Amino acid sequence: MAEAGDIERAVHVLRAGGLVAIPTETVYGLGADAENSTAVVRIFAVKGRPSNHPLIVHIGSASQLDDWAAEVPEPARRLAARFWPGPMTLVVRRSPRVPLVVTGGLESVALRVPAHPLALSLLSAFGGGVAAPSANRFGAVSPTNARHVREALGDAVDFVLDGGACAVGVESTIVDVTGDAPAILRPGGVSREDLERVIERRLPVNLEASVRAPGQHPSHYAPRAKVFLVEPDSILAEGERLQRLGRRVGLLLPAAFAPPHASDADQVVIVAPDSMAEYARRLYEFLRELDHRGCDVVVASLPAEDGLGLAIADRLRRAAGPR
Ligand code: TXA
Ligand code: MG
Repeated sequence: MAEAGDIERAVHVLRAGGLVAIPTETVYGLGADAENSTAVVRIFAVKGRPSNHPLIVHIGSASQLDDWAAEVPEPARRLAARFWPGPMTLVVRRSPRVPLVVTGGLESVALRVPAHPLALSLLSAFGGGVAAPSANRFGAVSPTNARHVREALGDAVDFVLDGGACAVGVESTIVDVTGDAPAILRPGGVSREDLERVIERRLPVNLEASVRAPGQHPSHYAPRAKVFLVEPDSILAEGERLQRLGRRVGLLLPAAFAPPHASDADQVVIVAPDSMAEYARRLYEFLRELDHRGCDVVVASLPAEDGLGLAIADRLRRAAGPR
């Protein structure tokens, strides 16, 4: 965990154009000074991420919204007031303060005030914006603790601010407010229902509209193992079928469908928590564990797609996407 002096050190690294891994309540980010284009370019290099895929700019408070946005529509103000700090990102028109390398050339920018106390201390001490994607290699599972970051990025990151395990566990919900009607580009830690209550209108989920959102490309958030999605009552049978084909099988299944007796030692069984908050918090850890235990296939099912279930289902679909 972080020690005294770590915030100062992280600020120093950011000011010097270095990269700092920052804990947030969703996942760890790989951060750089958003106004230092050279530092931002390094993020893309370290992640192996195409340079036209825009980054989120993290800011210290909703009061800074107007410093980074050219225009803030009324629904965006309401959402920021209600959900920041928190797991929600707003896509707005960018102010000239945002370099185009951050937005991948787009005239819009994604902004978020994270809820983790260390991230907030860092942003407040730094004063500027921190551009940060999730701190994983492009396409891989996002890191939910500092060890995951070190394993994935090693010395490529100059400093890791260790804030323990992430409390939400899936990325922020991205809401685009640049169009005529707000829309969700990526489901995440704030539920669609909660957002809709605040803006008092329906929020479509426009996954396909967000062509430039890499989180929305097939096969993202993906473990090494190939993921098969089936109905919950078919998981065991599908697992047996794959095992007969000689595969090392992992099962990720709801408690109600778990094997009644100690399962076949050749299969790795992970029981998905009934609580969607707990499932979200641990989803990436489960995918990592299935890899670590040598599974080459994983059979899973989608939870009901309301509340946090929408984000969990989205990530499982991405994990199962074509490679
Ligand atoms: O919870 C999170 O959002 C985490 C933490 C670190 O804040 N960050 C994260 O960043 O998930 P990343 O880069 O892995 O995903 C950000 C998503 C991408 O899908 C990106 O394309 C989209 O946000 N995005 C960024 N700027 C955008 C823009 N101007 N228009 C549309 N989508 C944008
Ligand atoms: Mg990511």
